[in-house]
Amino acid sequence: MTKTEKIVLSYSGGLDTSIILKWLQEVYGCEVVTFTADLGQGEELEPARAKAEMSGVKDIRIVDLREEFVSDFVFPMLRANALYEGQYLLGSSIARPLIAKRLVGIAREVGADAIAHGATGKGNDQIRFELAINALDPSLKVIAPWRQWNIRSRTQLLEYAEKHHIPVPSDKRGEAPFSIDANLLHTSTEGKILENPAEVAPDHVYQRTVDPLDAPDAPEIITIGFEAGDPVSVNGKSMTPAALLSELNGLGGRHGVGRLDLVENRFIGMKSRGIYETPGGTILLAAHRGIESITLDRAAAHLKDEIMPRYAELIYNGFWFAPEREMLQALIDQSQAFVSGEVTVRLYKGSASVISRTSPWSLYSADLVTFEESAVAYDHRDAEGFIRLNGLRLKSWAARNGR
Ligand code: ARG
Repeated sequence: MTKTEKIVLSYSGGLDTSIILKWLQEVYGCEVVTFTADLGQGEELEPARAKAEMSGVKDIRIVDLREEFVSDFVFPMLRANALYEGQYLLGSSIARPLIAKRLVGIAREVGADAIAHGATGKGNDQIRFELAINALDPSLKVIAPWRQWNIRSRTQLLEYAEKHHIPVPSDKRGEAPFSIDANLLHTSTEGKILENPAEVAPDHVYQRTVDPLDAPDAPEIITIGFEAGDPVSVNGKSMTPAALLSELNGLGGRHGVGRLDLVENRFIGMKSRGIYETPGGTILLAAHRGIESITLDRAAAHLKDEIMPRYAELIYNGFWFAPEREMLQALIDQSQAFVSGEVTVRLYKGSASVISRTSPWSLYSADLVTFEESAVAYDHRDAEGFIRLNGLRLKSWAARNGR
């Protein structure tokens, strides 16, 4: 093994990465550059700088990636109406390729030969980071301390922290925290009591949504404007992608929208249980489907729905920077040129329901569909032949079965 000269560490300032920083400095004895991304996790980032400084880090990078995250990763994914296993809006999955991209950029800038991350050996995140790094710079080495050191559990991690005088953060109740991953799209919570899927998640797990039972009794009606498949305004006010998502997070959170208690299949091969809160994303998914319902041709819409599970799985499994994801993205993007207009959504006790939609590009024809008389050239008798031909094979089939 060649000697490692310089490492860029994906550093949150939390317990795990603080321990990793210390461990890297001890084991590799080389310079470690820290990179902390602001993805709208709603946490102060200056404490991360202070902690890195205290650990002797000379080159500390803290970068605000909120707009890039939403415009170049979240919105393209929303164009596909992507859901993993029918339910998960992929809030953690979609953040990893962006973090990896920046890690690679910094590694090149500072002449580092390795990237280190704090994802454990059991999860999806290690795969997402490393596949992205492989795709962006095959020459970079990856260091995953969780797969290399002798620490085997969170309990042992806490013991290591105590021994090395690394402060251990605690949750509001003074207990060791859950494993939480947050950004502008979602908060994901895993671990501890949640590891038993038979246990109901305690209320204090939830961070950005109220319990729908406690949400206001009055519904709130909002309007979302779309331009070529992407949301651009809320209630008539134009907003940048990050501002828009954060506005919808506030609105949805107040009405208990976007909670999900899910047992999912990890790429690595085990089932895991997590609690997700995706208020803004849940509203946007409903609204995007609403605007697509009047602006997309039937076959185009159905083709999108056919490839969606495949596209979502690629993102979940860490293949954002892969040719097949880019190919599917091109197909999805191509479909969105006329997906513009306005959708009205009602937020009420945990639900986000589309209640109206309009578009200058609408394919909807009231004249065509109306139960009343209409001037459009539609001959009802055409339907007779249409049904007769479609029924032909069913008649043969039924006759054979009856023999
Ligand atoms: N299970 C989710 C996923 O694979 C969330 C993972 C979040 N990471 C964490 N450190 N809690 O996308």
